[in-house]
Amino acid sequence: MLVLGIETSCDETAASVVEDGRRMLSNVVSSQIDIHKKYGGVVPELASRKHLETINFVIEQALSQAGCSFKELDGIAVTNGPGLVASLLIGLANAKAIAYAFELPLIGVNHIEGHIFSNFLKHPENKFKTEKLLPPFIALVVSGGHSDLVFVEDYGKYELLGRTRDDAVGESFDKVAKLLRLGYPGGPVIDEISRKGNAEAIKFPLAHMKDDSLDFSFSGLKTAVVNFVKNHKLPTEPQSIADIAACFQRAAIKALVENTFCAIEEKRTKKLVLGGGVASNSHLRDVFKNRAEKNGIELYYPPPALCTDNAAMIGCVGYYKMDYSVDRPFKSLEAEANLELESWN
Ligand code: KG4
Ligand code: ZN
Repeated sequence: MLVLGIETSCDETAASVVEDGRRMLSNVVSSQIDIHKKYGGVVPELASRKHLETINFVIEQALSQAGCSFKELDGIAVTNGPGLVASLLIGLANAKAIAYAFELPLIGVNHIEGHIFSNFLKHPENKFKTEKLLPPFIALVVSGGHSDLVFVEDYGKYELLGRTRDDAVGESFDKVAKLLRLGYPGGPVIDEISRKGNAEAIKFPLAHMKDDSLDFSFSGLKTAVVNFVKNHKLPTEPQSIADIAACFQRAAIKALVENTFCAIEEKRTKKLVLGGGVASNSHLRDVFKNRAEKNGIELYYPPPALCTDNAAMIGCVGYYKMDYSVDRPFKSLEAEANLELESWN
């Protein structure tokens, strides 16, 4: 079964043809980073205009790299939330037009679900045997917009165990990087310079709640970094910047690990998957790997190209929703900025 996935929820215009849910025949991503960089974050109006300019070309490329035509497709899967509404609408309008013209089923996909399912995709750089990965498992989705801890009982059967009460973890990486004048997006550069930093130099608060919940809170950690810089002035020596970055990163990731392993214990599962842009962080991967090995947990995470936004993960969810005959209400499918992760199985 061939599904065309389309993703335009934020600042990547992406299309991909996925065969039988797990095999990518193409994966085309056009990033807008260069446009938004100078503003230090995504500018919604510029994002939707760029999606509009790029989307037809990206879809054509995805089909031509996969060696197939619209007529050979079995369905269209498109992200309909959460995300920037004007950006989501560009993907959705295109997907509706293609589905209508070629009489194909149209499947709306939740972006968070896409990040979880990116772990099912085969990729030459993926050292995990993705065909072995089956639910149930715990999923941690960490991106620029989300920090969600989810129990995936089965395909399409979800229980949200924890989420951020304020900033998303990727957002806090971006804000701290801006404060340290490291540019945008902040995650990759903090990851890089933290390797040279002393992660013990400053004690920042951990980013989880003090109550019994598995929720996160990254705004307190961010404020602690802001106050530290205010009180000590922004250092000029690269070593001091690297120390601040490393201590921030350590505190952010420690909370993610602690809550995730509590969730694993609570649900008595032995499998864990990571997804979203922050899942490509090298310190995060090391810490999760160590902890998983110690606890006998099977750990999966996608290669960096599938951690950040892409359309293959959307095509993958689309395949499973078609396989499970989920309703496809063509007319009522709308873009929803705050779409919640809902079970469909
Ligand atoms: O999943 P994604 O591409 O988009 C959203 O759905 O938000 O994630 C983008 C986020 C950005 O905040 C970026 O700074 C962060 O992922 N990120 C990283 C790394 N690479 C990307 N954060 C930490 N370490 C990285 N290596
Ligand atoms: Zn994302």
